[in-house]
Amino acid sequence: MRIIVMDNYDEMSKKAALMIASQVMLKPNSVLGLATGDTPIGMYKELTKLYNKRDIDFKEVRTFNLDEYYGINHENHQSYYYFMNANLFNNINIVRENIYMPNGMEKDVNTSCNEYETKIKELGGIDMQVLGIGGNGHIGFNEPNVNFEAETHLVNLEEETIKANSRFFKSINDVPVKAISMGIKTIMNSKKIILLASGLNKAKAIERAVNGKINPNIPASILQLHNDVTIILDKEAASSL
Ligand code: GLP
Repeated sequence: MRIIVMDNYDEMSKKAALMIASQVMLKPNSVLGLATGDTPIGMYKELTKLYNKRDIDFKEVRTFNLDEYYGINHENHQSYYYFMNANLFNNINIVRENIYMPNGMEKDVNTSCNEYETKIKELGGIDMQVLGIGGNGHIGFNEPNVNFEAETHLVNLEEETIKANSRFFKSINDVPVKAISMGIKTIMNSKKIILLASGLNKAKAIERAVNGKINPNIPASILQLHNDVTIILDKEAASSL
């Protein structure tokens, strides 16, 4: 694991955006794995800036998102589909057909999860996967007591995650209790992984993921076994290391 500590959130975001830009420069048709949440918003802003300066071209890039809430449609402002359009896709020259996201309204979940996995494999696998981390150490929506073998699947969200994500919803009762998420196996099959974390509330999870035992209770700890992981932190998130 390579750990990079930046002075603050903005510097963390810039560093992550430059890594993605380098990936796309070296391989213009890269397959990127993308994440949602507050943490990558600054990185998406930086990527948009780089695109506006013509330093990065998304024309051939393909993307797969990590996860999506189950039971909310694309028009819902809390869907990750809506988030990705607002924070990145609407602002760059990505081709719509090259964007893949789990479908939160799918009735036949197993089939659609299998199709998602097949598509990732068909396109040659994920070249660079971006991750955030939950306060409980989750990655994507792979909650504690995770099955390290799982591919894309339907998950039940932990109370802690529902509470944490309720800040985006009118009331905690509006937060979906299920989501579709790439599994740990999907994430671990990515060629490169960058994990971003910012703020004191992530410090403990980062410390346990980096220095703790590899343990299904801290899903991010499995990343210790990946051979190309870069963790980009601000000072607060690194404060327990
Ligand atoms: C959510 C997402 C994760 C994200 C995590 C942290 O539950 N499913 O992909 O990494 O929470 O979110 P934030 O960056 O807002 O702290």
